[in-house]
Amino acid sequence: MCGIMGYAGQKPAAGIILEGLARQEYRGYDSAGIALRCEETIINAKIVGRVSELTRKVKNMPPECSVSTSGIGHTRWATHGGVTETNAHPHESSDGMIVLVHNGIIENSREIRTRLESEGVKFITETDTEAACQLLAVLYKERGDARSAMSALTAELRGAFALVIMFRDIPDEIWCARKGSPLVAAFDGSASYCASDPTALLEYTHDLFFLEEGEMASLSPSRCEFYGFDGTERRKKTIRLNWDSVMADKGHFDHFMRKEIGEQPDVLRLTIDAHTIVTNVAMDKSLTLPSGLMKQIRRVQFVACGTSYYATLVARDIMESLDGELDIRAEVASEYRYRNVIGGGDTLAIFVSQSGETADTLAAARIAKAKGTRCTAITNVRGSTIDREVEHTLLSMAGPEVGVAATKTFMGQISLLALLVMALLKDRGTLSAGDEARLIGGLRTLPALQQAMLEREDEIKLLAEKYSDSKGFFFIGRRECVPLTLEGALKLKEIAYLPSEAYAAGEMKHGPIAMLDEKLTVVALAPDTDLREKTLSNVEECRARNAPILLLASEGDEGARAHANDIIFIPRTEPELFPFIGVIPLQLFAYHTARTLGRDIDMPRNLAKSVTVE
Ligand code: F6R
Repeated sequence: MCGIMGYAGQKPAAGIILEGLARQEYRGYDSAGIALRCEETIINAKIVGRVSELTRKVKNMPPECSVSTSGIGHTRWATHGGVTETNAHPHESSDGMIVLVHNGIIENSREIRTRLESEGVKFITETDTEAACQLLAVLYKERGDARSAMSALTAELRGAFALVIMFRDIPDEIWCARKGSPLVAAFDGSASYCASDPTALLEYTHDLFFLEEGEMASLSPSRCEFYGFDGTERRKKTIRLNWDSVMADKGHFDHFMRKEIGEQPDVLRLTIDAHTIVTNVAMDKSLTLPSGLMKQIRRVQFVACGTSYYATLVARDIMESLDGELDIRAEVASEYRYRNVIGGGDTLAIFVSQSGETADTLAAARIAKAKGTRCTAITNVRGSTIDREVEHTLLSMAGPEVGVAATKTFMGQISLLALLVMALLKDRGTLSAGDEARLIGGLRTLPALQQAMLEREDEIKLLAEKYSDSKGFFFIGRRECVPLTLEGALKLKEIAYLPSEAYAAGEMKHGPIAMLDEKLTVVALAPDTDLREKTLSNVEECRARNAPILLLASEGDEGARAHANDIIFIPRTEPELFPFIGVIPLQLFAYHTARTLGRDIDMPRNLAKSVTVE
């Protein structure tokens, strides 16, 4: 939940590290810091606030810092210890030999701290990280060798960590280690880099070393060397990541989130083109799971967190609508990991994680694997932990997403999931040619319909402004709309900080309806399907309690106007594919509500994009 960056090269390090931190700021943004090697010393600068403030502070560092060619940096999302300058990273050991940044949680930090304090070591922060820093200083003093001290440190630390370290008396070399938190390294011929997120490195090279669990490395201007935690050397191959670094730029948009909402037609088009044969609607076998797999499968479990979980609900519903005999579930990873969910060789579990690093999803995958369940992942990040740990991975094609609130990666997930579901059922022999042609044909028309939806932004903006003083929102809908009610409510909570709840429309009368009055807005999703009338009846129940109604209805459904204060028309598509278009006005509504309220849209308070702690 923090971003870290290290550089050892020949160019001034400060700018490279600050740029790397800015690219990873979505991971944490309550405080930030940098440490630069300046001849014999290492000079630290820390702030409470954003990387832009750190950049200002770095300008006032001693002149020798501007020519420093190695350093480390950190942008923090606090877990242990309040948001203060002292608790911000980098941390320095009391003997001044070690300077260190960390992402993760050191679970035995209390024990280490108590022991070291009894031996006379002075701690100055409230963080778990300082325990690792002070311990490494003691181990380095005892052993006199960085590799051996790193081995001893990693053997002793429990919990999750990505660490980047400078030893005061080892110039131009930085060390890093990974267990449970992501870390990627790179060498471009004259400099080494490391970071939490590959997007921080793409400006320098696309050939990346993804550190495995239990690996550490020493990085210098002339090489990257890798070791196991036991100190034995490891040969590593780079993985090429074909993301363009400009994809992670904001372009002419005010916010990454808005830019990313607009990229969804391209994400969908790219996914469909990559995963289907253009001349006929058949799935491309090489991009699906091993053929024949479904012959052994009786159960399918989709497992994920947050928005990715809502994407799995879309997949579950599509799959269920096509095959009524398979046992198909969607589960929240943080619960799946602690329940005794059935598994084994006749179960296929599909783990969906944009980052591929979400702690709960990884833990759920490990548990399923241990039960002998066939495990597959859908992730947006090649080389991420989930990609490396499961039997088979499908990459979503959203490209880097910087806005903390997921938008285009949701689209990347649902489009890939829809295609995967069809491929699995085809393999199983239960996908009819008619459904295949209908859905692939439907998917192909969606990018243009999404574009048409995006062009109604001004209308949605006015509605967002009108309703931004609501005391709260209820999102209601049935069947294919339920995942969208959840996603629409989540987006509004995340970036506008407004109370917003999602209910299956039929559930309103079982309790939530008691909350309604003229200040609580109901956003109702009622496309023109067999359930239109049922949903509109529930809308009427809300109207009768004076709640303002903002209705999402199918284009041309003029009769729906009578049920609403305001209406947004959505282009028509196959019922199962409604979420692909219906999500766009909900994302735009949340975006413009947050804008109206002056919220920090790309970096909402208290959140971090990649949740690598439990
Ligand atoms: C919401 C959001 C989160 C993530 C969730 C899972 O906008 O971004 O709810 O969807 O933290 O993250 P991944 O997909 O990386 O596992």
